[in-house]
Amino acid sequence: MNSMIPALQDSHNRQFSYLRLSITDVCNFSCNYCLPDGYQCDSKADAQPLNVHEIKNLVTVFAQKGIKKVRITGGEPSIRKDLAEIIATIKGIPGIEIVALTTNGYKLSENIQSWIDAGLDALNVSIDSLDPSVFQVITGHSRLQETLDGLNKALALGLTKVKVNAVLLKNYNLNEFSRFLDWVKHTPISLRFIELMETGDNREYFHQNHVKGQDIQTRLELSGWIQRIRGKNAGPAKEYEHPDYAGSIGLIMPYSKDFCKSCNRLRISSLGKLHLCLFGEGGEDLRPWLQPGINKVLDKDLSRTLSDRVDVALKGKLPEHYLTSHKTGSTRHLSMLGG
Ligand code: 5AD
Ligand code: SF4
Repeated sequence: MNSMIPALQDSHNRQFSYLRLSITDVCNFSCNYCLPDGYQCDSKADAQPLNVHEIKNLVTVFAQKGIKKVRITGGEPSIRKDLAEIIATIKGIPGIEIVALTTNGYKLSENIQSWIDAGLDALNVSIDSLDPSVFQVITGHSRLQETLDGLNKALALGLTKVKVNAVLLKNYNLNEFSRFLDWVKHTPISLRFIELMETGDNREYFHQNHVKGQDIQTRLELSGWIQRIRGKNAGPAKEYEHPDYAGSIGLIMPYSKDFCKSCNRLRISSLGKLHLCLFGEGGEDLRPWLQPGINKVLDKDLSRTLSDRVDVALKGKLPEHYLTSHKTGSTRHLSMLGG
């Protein structure tokens, strides 16, 4: 790491080595907890997402500041035709060790080989139901089998860091809890059960479907799952293992006490704004500092200015989200920031 630039740390003693980078907020699914009416173009629709050169400039500065892992998110990132190029570009930046991707799996089968060839290390696929008709009701698309085929292809190609995200929903998939566990018995994935979060757009749905993370934790522990001890900067998920199972379980429980104490990530929107929290306001616009000399890595002065802006913004990172008081910030839905 460049010793001139201090590592990313906030005023609550948290260190940031993980960047979640949204490359588009457009999505082709219409998950009922996220975009029930599908993606709606708004006045910002003309604004182009960060291009590959801007992404290179941005990630280069963050890598100098200690970011080691970049997760590409959306909307749905595979909508971008240049996704493989983006993966390869990020992977080529000194200091970046892991490039991960979160996808709804729509184009997984067709593209996973090219993403791995480009340097992809880790993959998260959202699969909220193992029942084809429930999958369709939740996502708006009858594509469970294609998604599973894509996932299996990723495993067959030797990708070892494969996770599946499932948001547990009282009225849709909670009754599939055991079915999900049976799947993990023979499948070497890390299945993450995500507690539904309230956003600006889903208030009523949230109240009808929220399942307490603590209830899921109790169920897991009663079935013999053992919590793995994790390092200080390992992030907010709780990880569980079971001797009889090929895969593992992760619990993302944003409403649990101390969830934010282990926050290790920063987020960048597809338009280049730095978001200190999924549920914050506004965001700090970094794009102007990515523009000049866009075809080459930023010159020293710009890189310094960008770095300073990030440091100043980071001082304002709050100790926690205020979701328990129903404060969802400016986040209308998670497609805006990729979860
Ligand atoms: N609450 C919890 N998880 C959500 N996701 C999207 N919206 C919500 C929400 N309101 C999940 C997606 C995806 C991950 C990136 O975020 O299902 O798996
Ligand atoms: Fe579903 Fe993710 Fe698209 Fe939202 S962004 S509609 S959660 S696939």
